[in-house]
Amino acid sequence: MIRTCDPLIRSQILYPAELRVHEGRKLLLIYRFGAETATPTQPASGPRPEGNAILKSTMGAPEPLLRCEDLQKIYLSGGRELPIFSGLNFQVFAGERVAIVGESGSGKSTLLHLLGGLDRPTRGRILYKSQDISTLPDSALADYRNRQIGFVWQIHYLLPEFTALENVMMPLLIRGDVRESARTRARATLQDVGLAERADHRAGELSGGEQQRVVLARALAGEPALLLADEPTGNLDVRTGERIMDLIGSLQRKHSLTLILVTHNIAFAERCERALRMEGGGLTEIHLTGGTTPGNKGFAT
Ligand SMILES: Nc1ncnc2c1ncn2[C@@H]1O[C@H](COP(=O)(O)OP(=O)(O)O)[C@@H](O)[C@H]1O
Ligand SMILES: [Mg+2]
Repeated sequence: MIRTCDPLIRSQILYPAELRVHEGRKLLLIYRFGAETATPTQPASGPRPEGNAILKSTMGAPEPLLRCEDLQKIYLSGGRELPIFSGLNFQVFAGERVAIVGESGSGKSTLLHLLGGLDRPTRGRILYKSQDISTLPDSALADYRNRQIGFVWQIHYLLPEFTALENVMMPLLIRGDVRESARTRARATLQDVGLAERADHRAGELSGGEQQRVVLARALAGEPALLLADEPTGNLDVRTGERIMDLIGSLQRKHSLTLILVTHNIAFAERCERALRMEGGGLTEIHLTGGTTPGNKGFAT
């Protein structure tokens, strides 16, 4: 069976790829370099790009980690323009936890898609370590997703017929890590999220909370700088959601991650240092009591 893998692309995998599933769930990944619009110098069957161009060219760059300038998104839907937001200006510093709240349909996920390089703005710039990612060719943007970003969505986008371990290994394999080192790192990351015992279980057989742990492991195994979490507890019961949020908090601290968290849960938003509200096509800084209280310790350990 061969199928194209939108879930893989959405979940930080390097290149648009096809996944071949053989009997016994053995897998073979076929690399496909970007869309036709990718770097013209990058032949479809040519060598893989070396290392991480974004990281290399911006080492030692000053803060902020992320800066958006005059950001606008207009979707084209049924031949008509659907403006989502415009004139967004904000920045996020390395190591910060920033919450984004707002009504359903206000554009929160759209913004996260732009920040994570899954879509491009209609106008404006997204500077990551001073480099404008919105103008990167598709293959470099995919590289940015794979190496700099960890994604956690409300929907897990795991491949259910693969084990937890294989799901976590996948972004590492696609970016070119040697299988054994990918396996070792994936196991260690599953241990980090408390799922060592479930490593060889198929993702489809795990509970919702366990699946979100696998997603966290997959997001973090590649050691990204920025974790984008879009309603990560939206499909979980209250207690499980709490545990996932606690885990996100402790991993954020442990790995000095920058976290952008979209949530409807004000208590979770209050665990962040800053909160922004998406409303009426704009983004404004808001003050949540927990986030501004001197004693606030953020996420529980
Ligand atoms: N790919 C798309 N094409 C057209 N419209 C879209 C697309 N994605 C989202 N939208 C629309 O954009 C608006 C904002 O969506 P979204 O960013 O998902 O909101 P939120 O995450 O805040 O609930 C919604 O009206 C949604 O229907
Ligand atoms: Mg959304």
